[in-house]
Amino acid sequence: MTTKTVAQLLSQDVTLQDVTVKGWVRTFRANRFIALNDGSTLNNIQCVVDFENFDESLLKRVTTGAAVNITGELVESQGKGQSVEIQVKELEVLGDSDPETYPIQPKKHSFEFLRENAHLRTRTSTFSAVMRLRSSLSFAIHKYFNENGFYYMHTPIITGSDAEGAGEMFRVSSLDAKNPPLTEDGEVNYKEDFFGKETNLTVSGQLEAETFAMSLGKVYTFGPTFRAENSNTSRHLAEFWMIEPEVAFMDLAGNMDLAENFMKSVLSYVLEHNREDLEFLEKRLLDEEKTKPQAERSDMSLIEKIKFVVDNNFKRVSYTEAIDILRNSKPNKKKKFNYIIEEWGADLQSEHERYLVEKHFKCPVILFDYPANIKAFYMRLNEDGKTVRAMDILFPGIGEMVGGSQREERLDVLKEKMKALDIPEEELWWYLDLRKYGTAVHSGFGLGFERLVMFTTGMGNIRDVIPYPRTPQNAEF
Ligand code: 4AD
Repeated sequence: MTTKTVAQLLSQDVTLQDVTVKGWVRTFRANRFIALNDGSTLNNIQCVVDFENFDESLLKRVTTGAAVNITGELVESQGKGQSVEIQVKELEVLGDSDPETYPIQPKKHSFEFLRENAHLRTRTSTFSAVMRLRSSLSFAIHKYFNENGFYYMHTPIITGSDAEGAGEMFRVSSLDAKNPPLTEDGEVNYKEDFFGKETNLTVSGQLEAETFAMSLGKVYTFGPTFRAENSNTSRHLAEFWMIEPEVAFMDLAGNMDLAENFMKSVLSYVLEHNREDLEFLEKRLLDEEKTKPQAERSDMSLIEKIKFVVDNNFKRVSYTEAIDILRNSKPNKKKKFNYIIEEWGADLQSEHERYLVEKHFKCPVILFDYPANIKAFYMRLNEDGKTVRAMDILFPGIGEMVGGSQREERLDVLKEKMKALDIPEEELWWYLDLRKYGTAVHSGFGLGFERLVMFTTGMGNIRDVIPYPRTPQNAEF
């Protein structure tokens, strides 16, 4: 007799004599019906207990959250709501769950409460569905790159350089924080630190990925990245996962094609393979939206939104065009934006990005050719001398999903840019070497994985799409 998962049992259409299944009790109704879940599927299997045949003391231990081992016969269900059920012959409680203290009761819990119980929240339908989708999206990402000739590279987590130049890094140090060694000038002497220099957790694997693109051609990284930006929003995490492809001999247009094709492929995968979870989350979102004013409700369901992205071209718009649209927009003229767009060169805030995708274009938008001074040092300067070959992909309901660019491949231009921004050449000597020896046009982008999971699951807060969110003032679990 082999142990089967709930998913396996529910997909059976034949009667099976002796089946064993292990899982956690979701509910136990009328001393007779156990709804059992083991995480293999959204659905529970109904296990019917003939209570006369079991000790009352044993049945008392069948409480919500308890781990049980059930053996019985898989039969066609007598009741509604499921096609098969188990007639229980043997029942063993593997792990008790005190109903007085078990936090996940069979009722609606707020997401805030579940965040405080993140170690148990994946025992709910919503969070198990989100995590199965997260897993499936990861697989689809690796599958896409593998099938398209990319190599998966592991870039370092501990780094000596600030790839984005934004200075929002977490220090990695083994020095005594209370009593660090000091230099003659009274500064902390990092020469005495573990690595003999100042090091941080990486904000991006891009710079190292570039080195591999310039030897292996097509590569990608998919790993954790860290940002010490104090943005306590529903779209920012201090620790998040980023997918960063990097391709030699590819320009910005190719980069846009890659990003669009990649995202469509990954979303198609989950449409095909995660239907049940998507339908559940679609219904959840619909219920949530019913509590909102009509104007804030989406006119598409979750699955319609995903299909829309898969089936329609992303709109490609230059920064300059976007500024024109925004300048002439109603909320700008009526001063409804918090930041009024007046001049070319302004950095776009999320209110502007959302206006462009949600109100104006009503589809994903690729904005490109941004002003050089609002973007990172490594982006390729255009012939106009003031814009760079940058691209951001903006999604309805999410805002920025992807940031990428064609990289500056000219040594002299890159050096000048670094000088202007006070980025020491000694720190990035290896990055500059790529431009010295066999330089070539190359491009890549970074996709924020949690933002993709948010879009796919319809969850409104990024803290609810990662197992254990790290945000300002919060690193529980
Ligand atoms: O636009 P960003 O900062 O780009 C880079 O890091 C480049 N090095 C990528 C590259 O070209 N290889 O970040 C890329 C994406 C953003 O578009 C966003 O989706 C996500 O990472 N992201 C965050 N996600 C969650 N929390 C945060 N604090 C994030 N910061 C960026």
